[in-house]
Amino acid sequence: MERAYAKINLTLDVLGRRPDGYHEVDMVMQTVDLSDLVWLDETDGDAIEVESSSSQIPADHRNLAYVAADVFRRAAGIRRGVRIRIDKSIPVAAGLGGGSADAAAVLRGLNRLWNTGFSADELAQMGARVGSDVPFLVQSGCAIARGRGERLERVDHSLRAWVVLIRPPVFVSTAEVYEALSPQDYTSEPRSRQLVERLVAGDLEQVQALVHNGLADAAKRLYPEILQVERRVEHLSPVPVHMSGSGPTLYCLFAARGPAQRLWGAVRGFSRDVYLCRFV
Ligand code: C5P
Repeated sequence: MERAYAKINLTLDVLGRRPDGYHEVDMVMQTVDLSDLVWLDETDGDAIEVESSSSQIPADHRNLAYVAADVFRRAAGIRRGVRIRIDKSIPVAAGLGGGSADAAAVLRGLNRLWNTGFSADELAQMGARVGSDVPFLVQSGCAIARGRGERLERVDHSLRAWVVLIRPPVFVSTAEVYEALSPQDYTSEPRSRQLVERLVAGDLEQVQALVHNGLADAAKRLYPEILQVERRVEHLSPVPVHMSGSGPTLYCLFAARGPAQRLWGAVRGFSRDVYLCRFV
């Protein structure tokens, strides 16, 4: 069994559009201990089968877990069949990298199942063929991710912040959010370096001040529900409210469990999609 951790973006700066249609980004990503569970079993046939506990994700070749298994088998020159079972806890299409985390777990898991001995870097390179966030999610922890997300600089820090995740009731298409960006959403001065310095120093208040998401304005223009939920949470929260990835998930960071749990309880008053977790 592989545990597939969700991620949040502490920064996401968009530098501009690239000739290949993707966007050049610079972001600080951090895994949190909200996770899917992924089981892999070899089968007698040669098919890749996907089962999941959620009806919200496709159980076929469109699933990133399937794509990851396909990429892995080609890279390893293996044709054996595999059954992938995903026990979903990470909200779907939420900006938390759930599908990418499952895909990364498949890469790690097949590497173990078939004793193929690929390094974490090699798995990350395979991951880049599956999706922009997959390379980061091959390992847990924190990293600066550049390029379209695949160029990683791992960051060691020991801050174990508490995180309240709030998922507004809307499904977001990452491609649509990127498509809706305008030049005002771009920046030439990413703040990843500064934020990482504060993370390493263990200063959460300073980290809070630098958290930024260049997709947030575009996401809120497309999905006003995000703004509505954000206002309600802002009203209840003693700390700033941020958005992860292309949204819609909002999050608040806390140094201690107590106030995080109080916010979680208050948000539960109007939303079932709220989670209490921690940096991992
Ligand atoms: O790489 P992934 O398939 O997760 O990306 C989903 C979509 O998000 C891409 O098709 C692209 O439209 C957009 N994207 C982008 N720039 C990135 C990452 C994603 O424009 N750095």
